[in-house]
Amino acid sequence: MKIHRCFPNIYLIGPMGAGKSSVGRKLASLTGLTHVDTDQEVCRRSGVDINWIFEVEGEEGFRKREAALIQELTAQGNMLISTGGGSILYSENREALKNTGIVVYLAVSFEEQYQRTQQRRYTRPLLEGGDFKKNLSRLNLQRAALYLSIAELCYQTDSINTQTLARQIYQDVMKKHQDL
Ligand code: S3P
Repeated sequence: MKIHRCFPNIYLIGPMGAGKSSVGRKLASLTGLTHVDTDQEVCRRSGVDINWIFEVEGEEGFRKREAALIQELTAQGNMLISTGGGSILYSENREALKNTGIVVYLAVSFEEQYQRTQQRRYTRPLLEGGDFKKNLSRLNLQRAALYLSIAELCYQTDSINTQTLARQIYQDVMKKHQDL
């Protein structure tokens, strides 16, 4: 069995539908890091779902919960975090991610993202109301540069399965870590 001492924290960022949660699960078993999906953790701690938080507290309420969690988790070691697509909007989140681990950007083409997010709309209140495609592209336009601004590694996720991608990330992170 491999033992990874001092494996760096890994943070998966990217838009909705890029595969941050599923790649995070596979990567967790390869690295042995503790995997936290911020959407799930925010819900677990609050006892309500994302839609409820957006409805009652607005996006700002959700962002505050998300930011508090990111500050808490990035202060710890042995962490692998699957972040929510909008987590990079707050500069303090970007700083915390960038300064404490390896930031991995999972990108996806618009068509593929559209297909994937259509299937799981429920946890994504920002896509509801108005034109679904327009909502998606508006968010992408606002955020693409922010993802790139903190990413150390980038992957296009359209036609690669999550297991293969997780293995690739694992190898690249190991290499980066050894080079340091
Ligand atoms: C959001 C993305 C969602 C979730 C919330 C807001 C966003 O997470 O945090 O609906 O602003 O892009 P995923 O990226 O895991 O879908």
